[in-house]
Parts: sequence; structure tokens; C-alpha cells
Amino acid sequence: MEVKLAFAGFGNVARAFARMLVERQNDLTRDYGFRFRATAISTNRHGSILSPEGIDLIEAVDRMERGESLTGLAGSESVADSFSLIEQCDAYILFETTPLNVENGEPAASYIRRALDRRIHVITANKGPVAFCYRELRRLARTRSASFRFEGTVMDGAPVFNMVESCLPGARVLGFEGILNSTTNIILTGMEEGRSFDECLMEAERAGIAEANADYDIDGWDAAMKAVALANVLMGTEINPREIKPQGIRAVTNDDIITAARRGRVIRLIARGQQVSDEVVISVAPEEVMKDSPFGAVRGSSNILKIKTDLMGEIAMLETDPGVRQTAYALVSDMLAVFARMREP
Ligand SMILES: NC(=O)c1ccc[n+]([C@@H]2O[C@H](COP(=O)([O-])OP(=O)(O)OC[C@H]3O[C@@H](n4cnc5c(N)ncnc54)[C@H](OP(=O)(O)O)[C@@H]3O)[C@@H](O)[C@H]2O)c1
Repeated sequence: MEVKLAFAGFGNVARAFARMLVERQNDLTRDYGFRFRATAISTNRHGSILSPEGIDLIEAVDRMERGESLTGLAGSESVADSFSLIEQCDAYILFETTPLNVENGEPAASYIRRALDRRIHVITANKGPVAFCYRELRRLARTRSASFRFEGTVMDGAPVFNMVESCLPGARVLGFEGILNSTTNIILTGMEEGRSFDECLMEAERAGIAEANADYDIDGWDAAMKAVALANVLMGTEINPREIKPQGIRAVTNDDIITAARRGRVIRLIARGQQVSDEVVISVAPEEVMKDSPFGAVRGSSNILKIKTDLMGEIAMLETDPGVRQTAYALVSDMLAVFARMREP
């Protein structure tokens, strides 16, 4: 079976995914019986194209990485923007990887809404729409018999949502805590080694890990959006991200880090979702933890998440040194879940 794919956003994550798809094309066909054809790509500054005959993904990746427009790619026609693209494309799956917007999750949420409405399955790595509109988008997906998947929104390709959905049936999630933002962890652990805040931030930006607006990382917004997404999906809350007041790491100084080290401690940005009375409270703040504790040992871009459940007690997941390839894998794993669903009678 041939599956047509569309992309809204073709940045670091989507391009890593495109390379992975091409690299694994033969295995996917052999193991899952699907071939794919990319028929639509939209961007912000590099043009938006449709190509019913199929886009050469590697040529599209190369063009973007040379800073060239996609417009004019062989066999393609240009469209005005992502909305026109979603309206006109004949894709089965839309991969939504546009930048995070912490004000309202837009325009990504509207791209997803429009695609689901057209019965196009949607896979996103963008936590904004999940934090702001999870219930609405899940309901829309169900009414349109489409899938809405988002494994890459928290801890990249680590199977956070899939683990709870598939491996903890019957258990209720009571709370969670984690180090969920790679950029701030690169900065905090880099400062422990005597490097400057700005130097470490540049390292995260060079690796394609930092948000397009790195203030979202530094001021705790990225971690807060992930925490809200976890609470809304795993704990059934309807928390409005605008109610969260995250505290980021902007005020953490080298002196704070040295003082903590004298006490055998390190500073980590910790996101929590805790049941307090009958509500779930989200917090994001830098905290001192023991250097040799599980959280203290998490360095660089690594992430950790501990989930508390009623029937299974506490369970933790550690992701070591992720980069964009791990987020790309989240799109692959979600795509295979959609394929599995497409096979269902
Ligand atoms: N990078 C990571 O490690 C990582 C990990 C987990 C999740 N995520 C999430 O994945 C998403 C993508 O991240 P990324 O690193 O790939 O970002 P990125 O490199 O900044 O790429 C964003 C892409 O979206 C396009 N775009 C921007 N605004 C748009 C709009 N209004 N409509 C359509 N396209 C638009 C950009 O086009 P131009 O290139 O023309 O500007 C670019 O192609 C983000 O939501 C991020 O939070 C990223």
C-alpha cells in the first residue's frame, strides 16, 4: 500500500525524519507492507509546495539546508501557505512540526484541526496544540476516524505516552516529576564545568535542540507546556497553560552552582504535576538536588521522567543524550501506529 505524506514545517525535526524515512524505506516496505510518497511540504520562509507525483525528500532537505526555497522543486506547484496546502493535499498523514507558540498553540492547532476535519491522520512534535487543545483535538480525531498522535512532544522519541497507554492498562497516573527540557540541562550542567551560560546555549542551538525562540527554554515555558501536556493526557485534567507560572533558569548564576556544589548538590530545572486536594498543580522551577541522586546524575541533553501510579507504584524513564534524531524517531513510531490502525478492518 502506498501512503501519501504531507509536512507542515520542514525544520530540524522534519528534515531528520525525512532522512530517516529514506534511510529505512526498504525495511518499512518489507516489515510493514507500506511505501510512502511525500506529496506536500509547507514552511514559513522557504515556500510551500504540492506534488501529487511525489517530492524528492533528499532534494527538499538539501535545498532547505542550503537556505534555498522549495518553490520550483521538480514536478511541484507552489501554494500560498499551510492552510491552502492542508486544504488541497491528498495526503493520508500530516506531520506537523512548526514552532512552539506558548500564547495559544497557534497556528499549529488550527493546522491540526483542519487536517483532522479532512480525515487526515495527524502526527505532531509540537507540544503547544497538545497543551492547549488536547481534548478538543482528540474528540475531533475520534469523530473523523482519524489518529492524533504526539509522542515527540515530551522526551523526544522515548515512549512516554505510548508506555502509559499500552503498558500500564488499568493503572491511574497520580503525578509525575522530571527534567524535561534539554536546553536548560545543557546550560546547567555546562556551568558546573565552568562554562558560560551563553556558550552552553549556543551549543544547544547548534545541535538543533533549542526552541526557535530559546527564551521559551530558558524561562521554563517549554517544560511547562510538556508538564501540562502530560497532565492533560495522562491525568485527564483540562489545565490551561496560561495559568502556569514557570520559573526558568535565567536567574541561576555561576555562584549559585558553586554554592550548591559545596553542599554536594547540583541545580536542575524540575517540572512536576502533583495532586493537591482534588486538583493537579503544575510547577516548573530550578531546584537543588543531591549530585548522586537519579535527577542529579542527568547531564547534558538527557531527560528523566518519574511517573507515580496507583497500581504500579513509581516508574521512571531515562533518555540519554537525545538529539533531533530521537524526535524524528517519535514521528516514525507514531507513523507505524497509524499504519497499524490503517490495517484494521
Ligand atoms: N528540535 C528538537 O529537538 C525538538 C524536540 C522535540 C520537539 N520539538 C518540537 O518540534 C517542532 C519543530 O522543531 P524544529 O526544531 O524542527 O523547529 P525549526 O527547526 O525551527 O523548524 C520549524 C519549521 O516550521 C516552519 N514554520 C515556521 N512557522 C510556520 C508557520 N506559521 N506555518 C508553517 N510552517 C512554519 C519553518 O519554516 P522556515 O524554515 O521557512 O522558517 C521550519 O521549516 C517544535 O514545535 C518543537 O517544539 C523539537
